[in-house]
Amino acid sequence: MKNLFVTGGAGFIGSNFIKYMLSNYNYKIINYDKLTYAGNLENLTDVEEHPNYVFVKGDICDDAMVRVTLEKYECDTIVNFAAESHVDRSILGAKDFVITNILGTQVLLDAAKDLKIEKYLQVSTDEVYGSLPEDRNDLKFTEENPIKTNSPYSASKASSDLLCNAYYQTHHLPVLITRCSNNYGPYQFPEKLIPLMIAKAMDGEKLPVYGDGMNVRDWLYVNDHCSGISAVLHRGKIGEIYNIGGNNEWHNIDIVKLILKYLNKGEDQIQYVKDRPGHDRRYAIDSTKIQKELGWKAFYKFEDGIKETIQWYIENEKWWRKVMSGEYMKYYEKNYAGKLL
Ligand code: NAD
Ligand code: DAU
Repeated sequence: MKNLFVTGGAGFIGSNFIKYMLSNYNYKIINYDKLTYAGNLENLTDVEEHPNYVFVKGDICDDAMVRVTLEKYECDTIVNFAAESHVDRSILGAKDFVITNILGTQVLLDAAKDLKIEKYLQVSTDEVYGSLPEDRNDLKFTEENPIKTNSPYSASKASSDLLCNAYYQTHHLPVLITRCSNNYGPYQFPEKLIPLMIAKAMDGEKLPVYGDGMNVRDWLYVNDHCSGISAVLHRGKIGEIYNIGGNNEWHNIDIVKLILKYLNKGEDQIQYVKDRPGHDRRYAIDSTKIQKELGWKAFYKFEDGIKETIQWYIENEKWWRKVMSGEYMKYYEKNYAGKLL
């Protein structure tokens, strides 16, 4: 592995991954990103002059541009983060999810096949497994769980996973798939639960909690996801799927209360709103496989990670205020207007 073609590297996890790889390895990183509303080069200002880092603006659906870039930089590895990633947006409109997440993956897989790429890693999600019952703490998602998707987002991610497996089986493309639980940390776009609630709490606004607030998510600090992807890239068995998760389940409402407490704000800011349609009740990842086979484990304790994250949003108010303007406000009104009870 020498030259990594990282797609979606200007987003939340991709930008953290690029910084993680640049500080731990000597690979050249080609960050290929379309810069949608979620892509932000300010996430990468501290590495933009790094000798091993290059940014290329491009769409993963653009077959010619993908191939020219892979050849120009002699890329031998692809790590695909590029995606439409927000469930609520996929409910408002699924088209972009189908285009980028499915068609874009197919374009990358064909280019990888034709250009004889040495490794292709697909960054997938635990959402492809659907929802777990809340009263069965003994049940967690393993890699053997069937796919059972409930949102257009998860359906599009599952479709891309199936394509990856098909290219492995049919064309012997050296594919790896990771499926991670909910990430949190710096540079997460404030449409997702944790940064949205921090921003709303800081501004003294209402915090919109879907349904009864008792849905469960399994939270992992973004750097732990990055180290998991790195472990799979370096030591994963070709053709395999690896779950990544922190064994850290929380009810949404408890996360919201934790944020309010840390910021010295009152719980009267909480506003229960209409539930997300098709809302998965509980996610929980069994990450035994990556731990046993690849020696990976989560490093960050949630108590420390969440404090660091809240502190980061306090110190980087300029960053999130800028991305929460313009197009974002239109989306916010569209998504939440119909939800007020
Ligand atoms: P994000 O929305 O923050 O970033 C997505 C990035 O992809 C942006 O930089 C955007 O500009 C880019 N992009 C979108 N469409 C593109 C296209 N057609 N061509 C090139 N670039 C394009 O997403 P994220 O939260 O960082 O998630 C990254 C990946 O990890 C996604 O594939 C997501 O499904 C997966 N994932 C996310 C989580 C999570 O909790 N956020 C957990 C598990 C897996
Ligand atoms: O599990 C991995 C997935 O986690 C990733 O694949 C997705 O890209 C990522 O967006 C995330 O999906 P979720 O739907 O779980 O994340 P989100 O932050 O949107 O919501 C987390 C929980 O909080 C969920 O139960 C819905 C709830 N929620 C969310 C928002 C935005 C609210 O109650 N109010 C809100 O305003």
